Amino acid sequence: MRAILVEQFGGPDVLRLRDVPLPQPQPGEVLVRVNSAGVGPWDAAQRQGRFGTELPYIPGFECAGTVVGKSGDDAGFHDGEPVYGYIGMGGAYADYVACRPDRLAPVPMALALWEAGALPVDLLTADAGIHDVLAVQRGQTVLVTAAAGGLGHLAAQLAIHVGAHVIATAGRDHHNFVHKLGVTDVIDHYEADWPQRVREIAPDGVDAALSTVSATTTDAVAATRDGGAVATPAPGGEIPPGRRVQLLRYQGPMDGRRLARLAPILDEGTVALIISARFDLEDAPAAHTEVERGHTRGKIVLSVNDD
Ligand SMILES: NC(=O)c1ccc[n+]([C@@H]2O[C@H](COP(=O)([O-])OP(=O)(O)OC[C@H]3O[C@@H](n4cnc5c(N)ncnc54)[C@H](OP(=O)(O)O)[C@@H]3O)[C@@H](O)[C@H]2O)c1
Repeated sequence: MRAILVEQFGGPDVLRLRDVPLPQPQPGEVLVRVNSAGVGPWDAAQRQGRFGTELPYIPGFECAGTVVGKSGDDAGFHDGEPVYGYIGMGGAYADYVACRPDRLAPVPMALALWEAGALPVDLLTADAGIHDVLAVQRGQTVLVTAAAGGLGHLAAQLAIHVGAHVIATAGRDHHNFVHKLGVTDVIDHYEADWPQRVREIAPDGVDAALSTVSATTTDAVAATRDGGAVATPAPGGEIPPGRRVQLLRYQGPMDGRRLARLAPILDEGTVALIISARFDLEDAPAAHTEVERGHTRGKIVLSVNDD
């Protein structure tokens, strides 16, 4: 089968299209024919060697595709069923991947297979941040930073759905995009002292914040009221002395059941996945170059197979 293989760490050019053996599912694993795979900044970090992944490896934390043969029978997935998931720390940039069934969920009706592969990591991470870590409630004021990005555009929509008053940050070029997600108050996070702009809207500070990128975490703390909390899945950020704000670090869960529970909000149109760029599998280096620019709007997806 075709796969992108990383044989040495480095820049995007280390992503090479290779012919590799079909993965052999371990007992209990499901074989999936990959249709689409998401591209995120974590893929670039791994390619640079920052996760200590053993070489060689096939990248791709998330994908959508169809179950092959009887491999999903024990888990209740049937031959040809469209599934998607946050499958692990690699394997999705390939024609086929073997993965744990508890990381997979049926693809919601609202999503096409070509786009669904780009959703699981950021949707699960946004959902965990808004609902579990921050436990956002109706009527609270919530800050979502970098709200145009993969994680941010989903988190903003989830927080609006809860009934929170959402204040978002984004670069100027992305303000209209973030307004269209339903956010009224959008602040430029490249403006010096942007937390002060947040406090012009919420004078005591926001109740809770999801800082989706490292660069905004310390400022998100500044924009949060004493007694409030900032959650982030990204490294970095600190709490200045004297501030009573919790900084809650967390990871997105690789959880197929949670993904399945989230299907209704996609099918009802409460949360929309926005794809800004689509690349063929062999163009993975260009997809990584794009994600490393750091200004992704919504998500980037790799098209692996069209059937
Ligand atoms: N640990 C986990 O489980 C987990 C899961 C998901 C994500 N993450 C991490 O969370 C982070 C965000 O992920 P993502 O998928 O949302 O990434 P992404 O889509 O690549 O984020 C792109 C956004 O980052 C914003 N940005 C770039 N530089 C910025 C800066 N200096 N200040 C403010 N905003 C800036 C850009 O906004 P503008 O262009 O508008 O400035 C852009 O819209 C990454 O570090 C990722 O690895 C971790």
